Amino acid sequence: MSHPLQDLQSAALAEITAAADEQTLEATRVKFLGRSGSVSAWGEQMKTLAKEEKPIVGKLLNEVRTAVTTAIEARAQQFRSRKESGALAKIDISLPGAPHEIGALHPLTQMLERSIEIFRRMGFALADGPDIEDEWHCFDALNTPPDHPARTEQDTFYLPDGRLLRTHTSTVQIRTMQSAPPPIRVIAPGAAYRNEEVNATHSAQFHQIEGLYVDQNVSVADLKGTLEFFMRELFGAETQVQFRPHHFPFTEPSLEVYVKSKALKSGEQWIEVCGCGVVHPAVFEAVNKARGDKAYDPEKWSGYAFGLGMDRLAMILFDIPDIRLFAQNDLRFLRQFA
Ligand code: DAH
Repeated sequence: MSHPLQDLQSAALAEITAAADEQTLEATRVKFLGRSGSVSAWGEQMKTLAKEEKPIVGKLLNEVRTAVTTAIEARAQQFRSRKESGALAKIDISLPGAPHEIGALHPLTQMLERSIEIFRRMGFALADGPDIEDEWHCFDALNTPPDHPARTEQDTFYLPDGRLLRTHTSTVQIRTMQSAPPPIRVIAPGAAYRNEEVNATHSAQFHQIEGLYVDQNVSVADLKGTLEFFMRELFGAETQVQFRPHHFPFTEPSLEVYVKSKALKSGEQWIEVCGCGVVHPAVFEAVNKARGDKAYDPEKWSGYAFGLGMDRLAMILFDIPDIRLFAQNDLRFLRQFA
């Protein structure tokens, strides 16, 4: 003969299995396990039982409660997973995913990559140097006298410790020669900084490509040929290139390079794009002194150097009216180069 508690368990389990939805299951739970449910009522009844009956019924009651609780939880879990798979079934996995926006190269980077590619074809390797420099690399070694206006705080950003933000990439000429003997054929692209009033054509941070070629019997003719080839590759075969005399402390003779091309928006106008010249013997001597040898003997070696204004070149090539656009991160501007 079965105990009424066992009958209660059978009834509960049958009802749980039969529950068709969560609401019915919840009603079943309340009916059996709720505060005034039938299993709980048995807990109350325990108090009235004889002493020797208590442990037996108590144990049975615990078993029934556990069995009913477990069955309810299992049935609830069934409902939950049914709901989840229903939700999953509604997702159309054949739909295309949300596309990621793919970025594009900044116009200055595009300019840089084009330039590097042209110089590579002429055998130039890449060189590099730090943006934070010392006065010696930026001025002294480049034959720039102590009283030169470029060295004042009006022109140059100095750090409290006396170092500075390089005002040109010509510093890399010195660093390259310090680290390797001639022959040298390098370009060094990078940022330069000047304490400048910012406007449409001037920025406190701008970009240059420095070039240095040191070998035997290097002449102005080599320099002209190299830069003319570069300008025509960049701006088109019909580009005209003009060299005008100038002065830089670190070159003798010194020249400025102007370009003009019908293919460009600037049309008939000559535009200055580059400073260059034949490396001054004093620069070689400064390098020798730092190296402690005579590797760059000015009697034996000669060279040319140039500094291209990258921002300027990009502004000409892409017809950009204001240098500040490069640093403003305005997508309306940047998207035009994607
Ligand atoms: N460093 C110069 C400037 O920033 C440009 C320049 C002129 C670089 C002549 C050179 C050079 O290498 O030979 O204005």
